Amino acid sequence: MYINFWYPVGTSEEITSYKPLQVKILGVKFVAFRDGEGTPHVLSDTCIHRGGSLGTGEVKDGCVICPYHGWQFGGDGKCKKIPTIADEQGPPARAKVDSYPVQEKYGIVFAFLGDLPEEERPPLYDVPEFEAEGWRANKLVVFDVKCYYERSVENGLDAAHNEFVHPAQGGPTIAETLKTQPMVVEDVVPWGSKFIMSYGGYADQSKATLKLGEGSTKAGSEHHGPNTLITRIRMSDTKKFHQFFFEAPIDENNTRIFFVNMRCFMMEEENDQRIIDINMKIAQEDIEIVESLNPVRTPHTTTKEVLVPSDKPIVRYRQYLQEWEDMGWRIDRVKIRGLEGDVAYAIPSPERRTSKNWVLETIPLMPGKLQKAS
Ligand code: FES
Ligand SMILES: [Fe+2]
Repeated sequence: MYINFWYPVGTSEEITSYKPLQVKILGVKFVAFRDGEGTPHVLSDTCIHRGGSLGTGEVKDGCVICPYHGWQFGGDGKCKKIPTIADEQGPPARAKVDSYPVQEKYGIVFAFLGDLPEEERPPLYDVPEFEAEGWRANKLVVFDVKCYYERSVENGLDAAHNEFVHPAQGGPTIAETLKTQPMVVEDVVPWGSKFIMSYGGYADQSKATLKLGEGSTKAGSEHHGPNTLITRIRMSDTKKFHQFFFEAPIDENNTRIFFVNMRCFMMEEENDQRIIDINMKIAQEDIEIVESLNPVRTPHTTTKEVLVPSDKPIVRYRQYLQEWEDMGWRIDRVKIRGLEGDVAYAIPSPERRTSKNWVLETIPLMPGKLQKAS
């Protein structure tokens, strides 16, 4: 798991100005709420007074209020009021929690969980089809999977599993295609890579739920950063599905996926539920596989598994992960496990670069080679 990327926190409806939303991402708890203007905020969940959980408190007058002794925190993370201290005196400067940059898009509130200054941040993935003429978005679907998020992203980058995991889709003859067409993985500089392939059609077209195979189907996937996956299925110029999966690693064993499905045909609203049902049936087939993978976490090596040419997109993804580890962005899970319950950590927010005096310790990170060299 890596700091310094955008992570989906909750849906626009879930984040309100009257009740805090508590979520766990990267193994750490956060609280999300809206201020009086409706602007969403995401803060570290741990109250720096004596460890109360802000997400179990209240939201009032644009502040989140700790349920233990009523300290009030604004969207900027600063404590605005301590009930036992006179208003003229005000809270001490150290009374602040990390507050993260936020963007609200596609019906999702995202937080940048890291400390990079704005100009150095990897961007949130842009979905140009969203609200564009000629495209229709399905209702946002959010679902949890009991797997490590990298296993889920790698599954999306894997063209070879389709006819084995999704036989009801008509058994696309991908294995045959892969034998004759070398996979070309293209970098989408500097945060990801993608591939697109032609599929030969379907072994049994009569069984295909979506009737994808017309001999000219192209499909492929892309990853952006460690946790955004895009799948593009193009049956013809006028029949396309573009699917966007914004994934939040809840912890080392669980992932929450925010799924935005765009299409440029079957535009009538009445098709929405049918498409969701088919997609979730396919997702369920994937879930059964990824929840049973061993080891649970992706091996960050190419020697502990036998990787073949059809795994090329996965190899490229793992190389990117290594680059982000070299940047010093990878969370040191092993170290955290050893101190579980003894230390409260925060993902560092950008403000830590400019102001001192933070109460919570920064989450342990693996030493980055590039950082050391510079
Ligand atoms: S622990 Fe939050 S106000 Fe005391
Ligand atoms: Fe799949």
